[in-house]
Amino acid sequence: MESAAPTILRSGIWTVHEYASVNSTNLVAAGLPSWSAVRAQTQSAGRGRFQRSWVSDEGGLWLSAVVPIQPAIVRIVPLLAGLAVCDVVRPLGAEGVRMRWPNDVMIGKRKLSGVLIDQFRAGLAVIGLGINVENEPARSDPSLRQSATRLADHWRQPLAIRDLMLRVLDRIHVLTEVLNGGDAPRLLAHVNQLWSKGRRVELDLDGDVRTGRFSGVDQAGRLLLLDDRGVTSAFDPEQVRHLTESPEFYASNISPHDSRRGCQAH
Ligand code: BTN
Repeated sequence: MESAAPTILRSGIWTVHEYASVNSTNLVAAGLPSWSAVRAQTQSAGRGRFQRSWVSDEGGLWLSAVVPIQPAIVRIVPLLAGLAVCDVVRPLGAEGVRMRWPNDVMIGKRKLSGVLIDQFRAGLAVIGLGINVENEPARSDPSLRQSATRLADHWRQPLAIRDLMLRVLDRIHVLTEVLNGGDAPRLLAHVNQLWSKGRRVELDLDGDVRTGRFSGVDQAGRLLLLDDRGVTSAFDPEQVRHLTESPEFYASNISPHDSRRGCQAH
């Protein structure tokens, strides 16, 4: 639910509805036309993937963008969203920015940004993204101290949240046009460059655990896992509850996943 009437901002193709506080920007965006966006300074019930909660304290970018999407490529939208965030954050000077399948943006071993895609109406996707900027998620959830990070601790070139938002929206627009224009292979090639292939990972498919080496994404945006028998299998984002990167590649003191925790932890 919205707190009060939004401030309307127009920028290029976008009409942005800015609120002080809402429950979830994705839910507010549900009824808006394409090329609308919703930003809130805080969310009272920020939502993550798999019904997890998302800490949305003041100082972060909590944004939902409504984009037109052809049905054939809807599965690639999560990759597009993570890629847009990565493309905007990298030039700000943060070192070690990378993607973790399907759409998390990490700095080193900590999560900077998460994406939740909703499809409330055919032909439209709501891209909900959260970026920790100057907020302090660990104040709301101390378990995030080891697993979440924020831009303010890394960037060499600080940016006002509204400017960060406009850059992200601009990138989403460009990449959506690429995707709808039939050039998914170019976008996927870019995505594959941003991931460290060969990394050993563990996939939790809702209790069924698979291990192997991450070998990139296929043309449908599915994760390719090369198992120890030499067999490669493909997985859709909605199949994989958690992806854990092996300490063999990342010395990490992140505790094992606990599904009750907020999703910034993952
Ligand atoms: C995840 O990593 O599980 C996804 C987190 C997505 C959070 C963003 S914040 C803006 C938008 N509104 C929500 O309620 N969720 C997304």
